[in-house]
Amino acid sequence: MKVPFADLTSQYKNLKPEIDQAIAPVLNAGNFIGGEPVRLFEKNFAALCSAKYCIGLGNGTAGLFLALKALDIGAGDEVITPAWSWISTSEVITLAGAKPVFADVDPVYYTITASEIEKKITNRTKAVIVVNLYGQMADTKHIRQICDEKNIKLIEDCSQAHLSEENGVIAGTIGDYGVFSFYPTKNLGAYGDAGCVITNKEELAIKIRRLANHGGLSKDEHQMEGFNSRLDTLQAAILNVKLPYLSAWTKKRIELAQLYCKELTGIRGIILPEVRIDTVHSFHLFVVMAEQRELLREYLSQQEIQTLIHYPKALPFEPAYSYLNHKESDFPVSAHLQNVVLSLPLYPELSREKVLYVCKSIRSFYETF
Ligand SMILES: Cc1ncc(COP(=O)(O)O)c(C=O)c1O
Repeated sequence: MKVPFADLTSQYKNLKPEIDQAIAPVLNAGNFIGGEPVRLFEKNFAALCSAKYCIGLGNGTAGLFLALKALDIGAGDEVITPAWSWISTSEVITLAGAKPVFADVDPVYYTITASEIEKKITNRTKAVIVVNLYGQMADTKHIRQICDEKNIKLIEDCSQAHLSEENGVIAGTIGDYGVFSFYPTKNLGAYGDAGCVITNKEELAIKIRRLANHGGLSKDEHQMEGFNSRLDTLQAAILNVKLPYLSAWTKKRIELAQLYCKELTGIRGIILPEVRIDTVHSFHLFVVMAEQRELLREYLSQQEIQTLIHYPKALPFEPAYSYLNHKESDFPVSAHLQNVVLSLPLYPELSREKVLYVCKSIRSFYETF
């Protein structure tokens, strides 16, 4: 039985009539920048996240970068960011002219911890980026308290955490900004690159809207120098079709994750993901820790089961950061994770039968091993 890691075409086939109907008016009118589809998406996504403002952008990386710029972070500043994440969360800090300061993550939840952040705070620290990784909420409420006490800005990277929650609060509204990616495989994915930021502060909303549009809220207005990073109208039209399904898709992901956990319990060699108490984990990825990972991957591949590794190397050990001269002992948790994490297929269209097949295959690998 073939189990691909992701399957974007099944979802498209289910939505095709609605997608066709949504993009045809955009194509017929020839209005490809801004317009009603973008406004509608921003309004509805903000409402879904219980945020006051949403600003559509070209992608999630741009959202993180513009958030730093809008918070006036630049040369001489330090920004604390997880050692275990996708590189967007650290490269934007350098791009803004500041210094990325890596902090290690929790060995159970894989997210940046308050205690590691506290160890890294100096009088140059101007912001912290938390990443709600794989869909798991970071300890954001606690981290927010620390940031407030020290007058440090907080950015929540929710690129993998659409509709995750902590104590009933939806991801993205605890920080000064919440940043989302709508990269095609994300829980809410466009048909190309797209992203947004959400915020509850009007001033921050206006600032980021200006920065994303050459410094102006309208054409030929340049209050400052900015950039070009707008949510594409066609992508907004597609996201408008998908948005009403997001809650049901998230529920499906959670159900399938629970099935994985049930079926994989008790297998020597596998450590299952745990959900932080009082949170909703939106399971963008289902990541286990696996003994003999490379052999298991090879075995699963022979059974036509595709797996991925998020991530093969922790950020401080990437060549891009060799100038920081970090050692594995600086980030022991991240150094361990890079050798053991394995992402199993998980998407709303995945059948229970396929999940059972993946679990059975993993069980037989460890039984014969
Ligand atoms: C944690 C995290 N942050 C940021 C991004 C950047 O998003 P984008 O690809 O839309 O720029 C991603 C996307 O993979 C991500 O996973």
